[in-house]
Amino acid sequence: MQAIIRIENLSKSYADGFQALKNIDLDVFPGEIFALLGPNGAGKTTLINIVCGIVNPGSGRITVDGHDVVRDFRHTRSMIGLVPQELSTDMFETVWSTVSFSRGLFGYRASPQHIERLLRSLSLWDKKDNKIMTLSGGMKRRVLIAKALAHEPRILFLDEPTAGVDVELRKDMWKIVRDLRESGVTIILTTHYIEEAEQMADRVGVINHGEIIRVQEKHELMRELGRKQLVLHLHEPLARVPASLESFELELAASGARLVYTYETRAARTGITALLTELSEAGIRFHDVDTNESSLEEIFVGLVRQEASPDGRTGAGPTQ
Ligand SMILES: Nc1ncnc2c1ncn2[C@@H]1O[C@H](COP(=O)(O)OP(=O)(O)OP(=O)(O)O)[C@@H](O)[C@H]1O
Ligand SMILES: [Mg+2]
Repeated sequence: MQAIIRIENLSKSYADGFQALKNIDLDVFPGEIFALLGPNGAGKTTLINIVCGIVNPGSGRITVDGHDVVRDFRHTRSMIGLVPQELSTDMFETVWSTVSFSRGLFGYRASPQHIERLLRSLSLWDKKDNKIMTLSGGMKRRVLIAKALAHEPRILFLDEPTAGVDVELRKDMWKIVRDLRESGVTIILTTHYIEEAEQMADRVGVINHGEIIRVQEKHELMRELGRKQLVLHLHEPLARVPASLESFELELAASGARLVYTYETRAARTGITALLTELSEAGIRFHDVDTNESSLEEIFVGLVRQEASPDGRTGAGPTQ
């Protein structure tokens, strides 16, 4: 499939010499939800702002639907909606006029029907005549989404769309994003709520110190780096793991009342059958079993930590 956004060998240094992005190569495909994950200062906003033409690229090439974002800025920008990380909008304008104005900015003919549909879908209809300053934080964030969608863009960037938003509203936002995807919009989002990426993303890119350290289909990433734990609740607590079970590298937990077996989800053989046979032979009985799976969050923390460790192969700190 042809990428809708193609980033090739992008590097960016700010005026003070700080290198925020290093040799980024990334393709985003039409109709996908792509989550860009990375710690504070990793370069997510810089990357988004460059694709949107707000920040100049240093070196490298970016195309949106085959058009260069620098040379064909007006064209590429009109295909993109951006919900910025910072809440910045005219506080004295009404919801209706600020969203309608955004559409006009891109040279589109006024469409009260589209604006009405948008405001209703974002539960902002009853606030349409309110000044922005009278809205709550979560409502202001929804106004930013409405502004970004006013010109019916094919691509939507959401930079931390749910920062400071309550659980209920966050779930509403997820639904809005999924519905947009259903309507064919390509979505790129950054988030610190990794559960959000776990819930929504088709693919995940992990960025750290300005470098993309992994890009993968979410389920594949979770399968590849995920681990599972089998927790056995024992009838009788054990003082130590019997020698016959040594090869399973079991851990004793809850003062010997639980045995924990960790295994790779991608392994062809998990070793569970062998473990249960050995347990039975050793006369160890249990009355309950739990399994836990690593979350995307644990995988993410592991990836970033691994990269930052002194013996990590790409673990360079920020370079000036
Ligand atoms: N205008 C600027 N001048 C100099 N350095 C900048 C500028 N804007 C950003 N940076 C630096 O570039 C790095 C990446 O910043 P960026 O805002 O892209 O990070 P981020 O991944 O979006 O972080 P966060 O999760 O906190 O939003 C940071 O070290 C930041 O200090
Ligand atoms: Mg940011």
